[in-house]
Amino acid sequence: MLRTHTCGQLNLGDVGKNVTLAGWVSSLRDHGNIIFFDLRDRYGLTQIVCNLPQLPESIVEIVKKIRQEFVIQVSGTVVARSPETVNPKISTGSIEVVAKNVEILNTCEPLPFEIVESKSINENTRLKYRYLDLRRDDLKENIVFRSEFTGKMREFFFSEGFVEIETPILTKSTPEGARDFLVPSRLNPGSFYALPQSPQLFKQILMISGFDRYYQIARCFRDEDLRSDRQPEFTQVDIEMTFVEENDVMEMCERLMKYAIEKTTDIEVKIPFPRLSYEEALNRFGTDKPDLRAGMEIVDLSELFTDSGSNILEGILQAGLIIKGIVIEQEENVSIKDVDSINEFVRQKGGKGIGWIRFRDNEIVSPLKKSLKDETVENLIKALKIKVGSLLLFLGGEHQWVCETLGEIRLAMCKKLKLINEKSLNFLWVVDFPLFEYNKEEDRIQCVHHPFTSPRTDNVNILDSEPLKVKSRAYDLVLNGTEIGGGSIRIHNRLLQEKIFSILGMQPEEYNDRFGFLLDALSYGAPPHGGLAFGLDRLVMILRNEDSIRETIAFPKTQKGVCPLSGAPSVVNEKQLRDLYIKVDFKPKE
Ligand code: AMO
Repeated sequence: MLRTHTCGQLNLGDVGKNVTLAGWVSSLRDHGNIIFFDLRDRYGLTQIVCNLPQLPESIVEIVKKIRQEFVIQVSGTVVARSPETVNPKISTGSIEVVAKNVEILNTCEPLPFEIVESKSINENTRLKYRYLDLRRDDLKENIVFRSEFTGKMREFFFSEGFVEIETPILTKSTPEGARDFLVPSRLNPGSFYALPQSPQLFKQILMISGFDRYYQIARCFRDEDLRSDRQPEFTQVDIEMTFVEENDVMEMCERLMKYAIEKTTDIEVKIPFPRLSYEEALNRFGTDKPDLRAGMEIVDLSELFTDSGSNILEGILQAGLIIKGIVIEQEENVSIKDVDSINEFVRQKGGKGIGWIRFRDNEIVSPLKKSLKDETVENLIKALKIKVGSLLLFLGGEHQWVCETLGEIRLAMCKKLKLINEKSLNFLWVVDFPLFEYNKEEDRIQCVHHPFTSPRTDNVNILDSEPLKVKSRAYDLVLNGTEIGGGSIRIHNRLLQEKIFSILGMQPEEYNDRFGFLLDALSYGAPPHGGLAFGLDRLVMILRNEDSIRETIAFPKTQKGVCPLSGAPSVVNEKQLRDLYIKVDFKPKE
């Protein structure tokens, strides 16, 4: 070994020892006769003291050449720091190593950015020099945490009898709502593999084969528009179990979360997690992934505004629309400008604007003040328990639109007014989803989850007559307002699976071509089964208090799906294309 200890290891108990350390020069301070280095490795920082008059000339020459981020090896003696120079912030802060020998193991070019500050640097540059960015402590800790967290999950799965099985990466397209990444097959000209959007069908087939309990830390690929919590390749903790019902899967997932989080953080995870139906989540929080850390629930105002005196409000209700609102308790912190920008937001979403009432001492302030009946104001105060100093925002329109728009306003206001306790973990199951939803733009029915999700048994009889009323056996796990997992009990009956494909508008020819292998497998003794997949990157992002999953992935892609480090995706040469029988009908920009 090139070292006897790591840079995070030495303390007062080691004083007097001769040690050898190796690492990167994180910073250096030149005081003429004395030069200090902070030597860094994965484990920490150790202060090195080079007392030049006491070192041989050959070593002094080496020391003087050292610059930031050089890789060096230092041998010396551990001494206690004088009390005024002790640094309680680092584990080695009570000692320093007085160098006797120093060697340069490698040099470093001038840095494109300061490593400690790299989080504030333009992301393209950070990703281009990701090896430097990854030297940053917080990013490195995220990656190490991810490894420990995954390790604890594996430990749990092993102890519960799960089998870790790898499923193919070169596979057949199985749509989950996003576009596929395609890979041309040289041996089968004109044919393409798809990279898996998830191992969904293979894990179901493994249940049909009798593996009973499967898991995989599975890389998934989806060609979709990227956001801070989406990457084109991401990792799922993918699970499937046989002879189970919803509660069995959910209960196992709760224990998994409790085990892995409590083993890797000092956070206590209380189980079971609360559950909310999709309908209630939408009505009370305006989203299917509510953040319950903040209050400010959406309230129904249609009845309270029925005979309010306001023509506008009554007109909305008479048109069969609804009115809902939120009460913000610190009206003094919501300025006229804030309300203007909410109004602008509502207009961008196709609405006419937001209504508001400020409740002050003995008076209200509102554009509707003149028309609103006193009785309506009194009823509002009583029914909603409105306190002086509150602001009621309200919105009229079609049910889903009103809920979703208010949901976004609620979240933005909770963030602005700092009503969210960032530290706490708030898990929530959302259940009782509809099986299908109507896609207005494409005028067709589509799945809320994926087409392999089982309808509720007591709803199968209305599949044909009222498909949009059918509830599914799906469950989503939400953590602090982010969907971190989703799963369901699956369809294990071929005929029912075929029926779902038909409702989705597929002819037998099409579904047999795309999913014939699944349908065949379902005909050979498929047991009841179900499972779930967690989004590992998102989970680690929340546990590490980060805003983007890119902070939890060693080599993420930019918003444009590019890896600035390697230059992927890139143009390939003519021969490669010819081998694959591919002609590119597009000239990329130089
Ligand atoms: P779903 O599509 O809900 O379910 O994915 C499961 C979880 O994966 C995470 N996730 C993502 N994370 C980062 N980037 C993305 N582009 C991305 N897309 C999804 C989310 C999500 O909750 N086969 C089903 C699971 C099942 O039914 O068992 C599936 O893939 O956290």
